[in-house]
Amino acid sequence: MEHYCKLIQRNIGLIFFSSFLLSIILLLSTLYSSNSFSITFSQFELYDHEEETACDLFVGKWIRDFREPIYNNWTCPTMPGLKNCLKHGKDSDYIYWRWKPDNCELPRFDPSMFLSIVQRKKLAFIGDSLARNQMESLLCLLSQVETPVSKHRDADDKFQTWYFPSHDFTLMVMWTEFLVVANERIVNGRASNEFDLHLDKVNGTWSDKIAGIHYTVISSGNWFFRTNYLYKGGKLIGCIYCRDSNLKDYGPVYAIKSALSTSLEFISKCKDCEDMVTVLRTYSPSHFEHGAWFAGGYCNRTQPLSEGEVSLNGSSWRVRESQVEEFGKIVQRVERKEKKRFVLMDVNKAMMLRADGHPGSHWPRIRDVSDCLHWCLPGPVDLWNELLMVILSK
Ligand SMILES: *[C@@H]1O[C@H](CO)[C@@H](O)[C@H](O)[C@H]1NC(C)=O
Ligand SMILES: *[C@@H]1O[C@H](CO)[C@@H](O)[C@H](O)[C@H]1NC(C)=O
Ligand SMILES: *[C@@H]1O[C@H](CO)[C@@H](O)[C@H](O)[C@H]1NC(C)=O
Ligand SMILES: *[C@@H]1O[C@H](CO)[C@@H](O)[C@H](O)[C@H]1NC(C)=O
Repeated sequence: MEHYCKLIQRNIGLIFFSSFLLSIILLLSTLYSSNSFSITFSQFELYDHEEETACDLFVGKWIRDFREPIYNNWTCPTMPGLKNCLKHGKDSDYIYWRWKPDNCELPRFDPSMFLSIVQRKKLAFIGDSLARNQMESLLCLLSQVETPVSKHRDADDKFQTWYFPSHDFTLMVMWTEFLVVANERIVNGRASNEFDLHLDKVNGTWSDKIAGIHYTVISSGNWFFRTNYLYKGGKLIGCIYCRDSNLKDYGPVYAIKSALSTSLEFISKCKDCEDMVTVLRTYSPSHFEHGAWFAGGYCNRTQPLSEGEVSLNGSSWRVRESQVEEFGKIVQRVERKEKKRFVLMDVNKAMMLRADGHPGSHWPRIRDVSDCLHWCLPGPVDLWNELLMVILSK
């Protein structure tokens, strides 16, 4: 009898424990799904309801698609040599994939439709060479309908302005490595490739130019993965990857998050961009294997990675999480009655899978260096503009 009672007692404990566990799991999964869902689409809900929340465009997989891409290196007059991978011997197999969201179909890019959406508008990509990569893709896609006219191009292509006369559409790219104020350290009279980053001061070279722009696509990330020194309120607070034991090493994710917070805050308060739609593109990872840039790293995979080969606790995903978090904060702060919009374009997972989509060794190489950071054209980066079309059409 005593034994029987003990058994019940033990089982009651077990039952309590299991229901406790179950509620924790339920709580966690609710939290998690509300994170990845309502944050992603909270701004979409402002426009429309039900429909968008039913399909998360950023959760899906790459599937085979043997249709020819919308453009190729003959039909795109602005094809940049560095991304013309087929010309440099890359096998074309990597082209024949398309992104399939789990719960819907992503419409194919339609240059005429895109141009009609952005008619009489200005769109700017703000960021580093990956922001430029998206602009290059968009130029190729749109030039199937109308040939763009170059209005401005600085010596190293960092600032460019293109114009589509019959749609009165202006397309720009504005260079910024860090979004915030950054001064390169000069060591022994030479540029050191190490920067002093003022995490709380937005960099004027882009922020002074956004007045009157209707759509901005903002991004950052890759330049933070090196030795940099971090400042707040003008004071040195720490560093990224420095070998100075007197300084706290905050790591790149913290700095990316702070710089983004400063930038989104600036846009949310910007008086001259009342109607602006700001699209935050999440982090685009590189795929160097067996070494880094300029250190023997390469990427010669011929297929997208499988789900299991992608790490959700690596730095790429952690950067993405921090960006999603900052996005969530700004969306919460911007009042619904304002015309200003913030939209998340969460390409991180899709791009993590595309280890096969970089130029690798198929570009006009500097010595033996592989490019496993930028994306070939045509290629997986065209997805970003497909997503942009859906976002802007809302
Ligand atoms: C375009 O790509 C093909 C390979 O598909 C290559 O043979 C050709 O040289 C390239 N042409 C141009 C103009 O880049
Ligand atoms: C802003 O960024 C540009 C481009 O990276 C850089 O040349 C310039 O020095 C930066 N300006 C400031 C004030 O940090
Ligand atoms: C990629 O390159 C490495 C090193 O050169 C080689 O061992 C490997 O077989 C290559 N893989 C493919 C798929 O070409
Ligand atoms: C990532 O997860 C794997 C297994 O799930 C673990 O072995 C590894 O230590 C984790 N890495 C980091 C950086 O947390």
